[in-house]
Amino acid sequence: MSENTATALSGRSVTALENFSSKEIRLILDTAKEMKKIIQRDIKKVPTLRGKAIVNLFFEPSTRTRTSFELAGKYLSADVVSINTASSSVVKGESLRDTLYTIEAMGVDAIVMRHKAEGAADFASQVVKPVIINAGDGAHAHPSQALLDLFTIEQAKGRLEGLKVAIIGDILHSRVARSDINGMLKMGVEVHLAGPKTLMPRFLDIKGVHIHDRVEEAIDNADVINVLRIQLERQQAGLFPSTREYARIFGINDDRLRLAKEDVLVLHPGPQNKGLEISTAVTYGEHSAIRDQVQNGVAVRMALLTLTLIGKKQQD
Ligand code: NCD
Repeated sequence: MSENTATALSGRSVTALENFSSKEIRLILDTAKEMKKIIQRDIKKVPTLRGKAIVNLFFEPSTRTRTSFELAGKYLSADVVSINTASSSVVKGESLRDTLYTIEAMGVDAIVMRHKAEGAADFASQVVKPVIINAGDGAHAHPSQALLDLFTIEQAKGRLEGLKVAIIGDILHSRVARSDINGMLKMGVEVHLAGPKTLMPRFLDIKGVHIHDRVEEAIDNADVINVLRIQLERQQAGLFPSTREYARIFGINDDRLRLAKEDVLVLHPGPQNKGLEISTAVTYGEHSAIRDQVQNGVAVRMALLTLTLIGKKQQD
């Protein structure tokens, strides 16, 4: 990888994968591979981001994403602060712009942000100087999740190009699906979608995406099944008849898994509604890479922080 490509991401905000070329995504995935070695060591600390400050600003709940960005920064020796908006001045009515200005004024280098409004991360990248990493903005984008999905798939399958990936479920409300579709198409993955018609957005005549009414068609001979959470908190009542009905028609269970390739990999971004979109047996079964996704999430976020804040691959 040339030095030019390696510094290309320096100072860049990561708000959506639309803004990244396949070459840049490749650089992130290759850097994550190096970062994963650090996580697997006994002493997980490198000095790469010493003297850099990162703030996690999460306006929506999160376990995995927030913790893994926090650990990623700490493993790289950055100073990391996580703001709990429930106990911050946000509850006193402070605007997003003022919150961002306040954090910027403290000399922060990166802000990792999750917000319920689509476009919030883009807005932030326009009003303040620190690198903005979008950790989810409404139903729009969740680029680090898509990168960790790509990374997990590549680690298991040895390649991305030409694989058949089925994304199942609540596509309409899923920022993960949007970012996955974007990143996967760029990396030569064949993307198939299935879910209730009411949970399938109309934007999806994207070239190269195959849309199916029946889950069986989408997962037929698939290399990977990415099961999405039914986002109960974002549903307006009535988009599907009942949770039991959903599980029966679209739920990923052992019977359905048999339709896919023998070595199919099952992903789920978490948190899961077990027994609804995915069965307990599949979650803990031999095809599941759900826990690998979590570890890989730390590696990918270490890569993102390093590339945007330093612009060089980790050398140790
Ligand atoms: C996803 C999110 O928040 O968008 N979860 C995550 O980041 N691990 C998916 C979801 O909430 O269903």
